[in-house]
Amino acid sequence: MKPEQIKKTYNLFAEDYYKTRKEKEGAPDFFNTNLEMPTTLKLLGNVKNKKILDLGCGPGFYLKILANKKARVKGIDISEESVKIARKENPDIEIKIGDVTKKLPYKDSEFDIVLASLILDHIEDWTQVLKKIKRVLKKEGIFVFSTYNPITYKEKKKKWFFKTFREIEGYFDEDWRNEEWEREYGIRKIGKIGHHHKTYGTIVRFLVNSGFELIDYEDSFPTKISKEKYPEYYKRHSNKPNFCTWKVKKK
Ligand SMILES: C[S@@+](CC[C@H](N)C(=O)[O-])C[C@H]1O[C@@H](n2cnc3c(N)ncnc32)[C@H](O)[C@@H]1O
Repeated sequence: MKPEQIKKTYNLFAEDYYKTRKEKEGAPDFFNTNLEMPTTLKLLGNVKNKKILDLGCGPGFYLKILANKKARVKGIDISEESVKIARKENPDIEIKIGDVTKKLPYKDSEFDIVLASLILDHIEDWTQVLKKIKRVLKKEGIFVFSTYNPITYKEKKKKWFFKTFREIEGYFDEDWRNEEWEREYGIRKIGKIGHHHKTYGTIVRFLVNSGFELIDYEDSFPTKISKEKYPEYYKRHSNKPNFCTWKVKKK
């Protein structure tokens, strides 16, 4: 799926995505705030005084958290509507509109850390973007990113008489899954969004070939709060990981 289509859908989705996370109610509150973010923040570690670039910053939730932890942050996102919200929420932070697959408008070795939370699944070939990330990172700089977990990604819902179950199918088929987010999030008309599946082997090979060293990895696990608040989601995603976070170092 082309970045233009992804941008179009995020533009339509921006306000709802922001609201459900801000009001702490709904699917993005579970999937982002209570599932993906705790793992990624844990792997980011102590960010005090670190210069951080947030790639695909969306409505800017990470920007705010990291700035509150005294990091010096900048953000960039392809969706104008998301950036509008992110700027309103973070008036003192520099946030640019841009497609990270085309260029990163920052100086060489500008950042200690680059963060990319749930954006790389929207990109098929990571070679160019990893090269750009490496350029803006300092020597031994850290790149933390989260993705769909390659296992869960290929799960299919099946029915056997009256029983519904989920099975992994086509793990080795590296292709796009184009979803209609209206159904998933039950909000209103949104549009199609594409996520590109890669096996663990492909992800590791992209990193190694781009000159990154793997230093940590963690599967997402839901927060305690979500056990009561979102019992069904909790049950499903405490049994198998929906996302995972990778921490790599520029060699
Ligand atoms: C799932 S959202 C995550 C937002 C944010 N990182 C967070 O975790 O709160 C993915 C974001 O990536 C952005 N994005 C997707 N493809 C992009 C690209 N090629 N260049 C820049 N941003 C992109 C989208 O606009 C969207 O805001």
